[in-house]
Amino acid sequence: MSALFSPMTVKRFTFRNRVVLPPMVCVVRPELAHYAGVEGVVSEVSIEHYARRAQAGTGLIMVEATAVDEGGRCWEGAMGAYADRHLPGLARLAERIHEAGAVAGIQLVHHGPQGSPDLAPDGLVGPSDAAPTGSRPAVRGLTVEEIHAIEGRFEEAAERVVQAGFDLVEVHAAHGFLLDSFLLQARNRRQDEYGGDLDGRMRIVLETCRRIRRRIGGGPLLTCRTCLFNKREEGFGAEDLETLVGGLEEAGNDLLDVSTDGVFKGWFGSPRSLGQWVKGMTGLPVIAAGGLGDARDAERAVSEGHADFAAVGTAMLDDADWTRRAREELGA
Ligand SMILES: Cc1cc2nc3c(=O)[nH]c(=O)nc-3n(C[C@H](O)[C@H](O)[C@H](O)COP(=O)(O)O)c2cc1C
Repeated sequence: MSALFSPMTVKRFTFRNRVVLPPMVCVVRPELAHYAGVEGVVSEVSIEHYARRAQAGTGLIMVEATAVDEGGRCWEGAMGAYADRHLPGLARLAERIHEAGAVAGIQLVHHGPQGSPDLAPDGLVGPSDAAPTGSRPAVRGLTVEEIHAIEGRFEEAAERVVQAGFDLVEVHAAHGFLLDSFLLQARNRRQDEYGGDLDGRMRIVLETCRRIRRRIGGGPLLTCRTCLFNKREEGFGAEDLETLVGGLEEAGNDLLDVSTDGVFKGWFGSPRSLGQWVKGMTGLPVIAAGGLGDARDAERAVSEGHADFAAVGTAMLDDADWTRRAREELGA
């Protein structure tokens, strides 16, 4: 009996198995650059890309980082949910994922300090002012009013994707993009309520989740993606993680999504994986990604309790039929 291929129900949504396509922006790969739409509109190529992975039997398809703000994009043509003109393409995408039997999720992002300077006419923004370094331009620290406005952009985009038919909204608070940059001590030197201790630094993340939850109501699922591998040298410890996890739970998330640099790696000086730490801190189901391209590893991640859902990134980008092959390999 395969743990990876057992179904799981979260609220009113039943996932046919625990295999997840994690969010992956296609346009960053030159060979996939043609996936990009025009002005953030979903392209037909993109729809086929996701539909194929759903047709292979994947339980949850999490659509790539989708911009909540025109100025918060990373790439020209990156998918957007910041205007009503994006709705028809998003609706078609959600429909195709559903037709293939998968739960449809989508990640929302503001790229902040890691955005594209060419796409941010007013300059890149982040928690604090930062001088240009190497090839990266200067960053301007946001005012409190601007922070609230960006939280509002997340809220509006969430409403739009739910209207388009998505079952699950994911807040991107990982990988150094805007929300994660607030969590990072090295980037966030604010003295106000959005900086300082962890409560201050995570305020924008939790407020964003809370505002989305209020806006979309209790029906659709909400999750937040975080990562810690970029916070190791800042001494982010188990207690900090517990505070963050507790905050995310209180803010209305139904699942947590943990981006790792290795699902089986030990954390905080112990052999326990990050997923095991998080699962010990909350009853919420956990999605974990990082090095699960081998079906037996994905199976082990779930059966050994590192995660409830195994996200398979690069391997599924390379092989649209990954899930079908994994099922055969595991005899499930
Ligand atoms: C081409 C590419 C694009 C990615 N885009 C995103 C993204 O849009 N949002 C995100 O949170 N992570 C993104 N990631 C990270 C993946 O979701 C995943 O966490 C990572 O690849 C580790 O899983 P893997 O070892 O199975 O590839 C991206 C990774 C790759 C390789």
